[in-house]
Amino acid sequence: MKKKDTFNVAVIGAGAIGIDHIRSFQQHPAATVSALAEVSPQRGREAADQFNIPDLVTDYRTLLKRADIDIVSIALPNYLHAPVALAALRAGKHVMVDKPMATNARDAAKLVVTAKQKKLLLMVGQNNRFTPEVQTAKQLVTGGTLGEVYHAKTAWTRRAGIPRIGSWFTQKKFAGGGCTYDIGVHALDRCLYLLGEFEAAAVSGQTYGQLGPRGLGDATWGKSEIDPQKPFDVDDLSVALIKLKSGRTVLLEASWAAHQAQPDFNGTQLFGTEAGLQLPPLQLFRQGPTGYVTELVTTHTDLVHPNRMVHFIDCLLGKAKPYVKPAESLAVQKILDAIYLSAKTGKEVRIK
Ligand SMILES: NC(=O)c1ccc[n+]([C@@H]2O[C@H](COP(=O)([O-])OP(=O)(O)OC[C@H]3O[C@@H](n4cnc5c(N)ncnc54)[C@H](O)[C@@H]3O)[C@@H](O)[C@H]2O)c1
Repeated sequence: MKKKDTFNVAVIGAGAIGIDHIRSFQQHPAATVSALAEVSPQRGREAADQFNIPDLVTDYRTLLKRADIDIVSIALPNYLHAPVALAALRAGKHVMVDKPMATNARDAAKLVVTAKQKKLLLMVGQNNRFTPEVQTAKQLVTGGTLGEVYHAKTAWTRRAGIPRIGSWFTQKKFAGGGCTYDIGVHALDRCLYLLGEFEAAAVSGQTYGQLGPRGLGDATWGKSEIDPQKPFDVDDLSVALIKLKSGRTVLLEASWAAHQAQPDFNGTQLFGTEAGLQLPPLQLFRQGPTGYVTELVTTHTDLVHPNRMVHFIDCLLGKAKPYVKPAESLAVQKILDAIYLSAKTGKEVRIK
């Protein structure tokens, strides 16, 4: 079969991040966003007009039947990620799905298997991995600057950053979970990528919903309709101790709402035998010959294109190797699920 050099993209969901999906694919000269599916006629029309997208539909399944669509890019509420991605893969489309990969590891595993069977590219939109800080930190870790990294702390914690109370984000049946799935997933994925290890042996976690259910900590992210009458039944803060298969440990913290000093903290720390690092900004800490040294590191994007959609197209063109691999995203999903299970049962969860 002749290798393709141009790709038609269908974006599904024209909410807050759907717009970014469209813009990002449009950055690549080999990609055309030719179709959009959006259940809100108003949001769909606005986006289609703004970005000159010729085909606008309300039912995404129409687009899966189009033979000329090569890529489906999913920017939907979490509960739709796995079913829509699976339908798209079965229809022979490459899939970019936003995080979290699914709302349970069983569904996520089906995606991994199907993409492999069909030889299709499947990638989860872990955009936090693409930053210059993370790319440069990865080179420091693999280059041995830190020695052996044995422990990490990673967090995305906001003071008042709930993506609108009453939206699908704050309802378990649509979101699957709260801040753990929404932003904890980024902090965790970034950290495991830097450690170069995704498989966990055991997870101990706790989740809370202290502020959101009382109407506190609301923010403005997201475009979907809100219904303030709907119960806030997801977590607004979570913490976990993750023991990786190698025995190394990760402390993960996530919060949408918490009484903390910084409005928004999104960072990772690695502790190695020879040095430690923290980002952002990327800093190295080590014992120098004459005292302790803290060094601010100049960052760059040598590993991959910093835009995930441009990278996705580069992979299809054979110019890049997938930076976020399906098996890694499945391992992340297993850990997130284990955090919820551990919180529910009060016990450490062992992962097979
Ligand atoms: N990678 C990131 O940094 C990042 C950032 C924000 C959001 N996200 C993820 O992206 C996803 C979407 O988040 P958002 O902030 O854009 O939410 P949003 O509520 O702003 O947008 C979701 C859109 O999907 C539409 N939609 C719902 N059901 C649909 C269907 N069956 N067919 C077509 N359209 C449908 C809604 O009408 C809405 O416009 C979430 O899973 C979220 O976790 C990722």
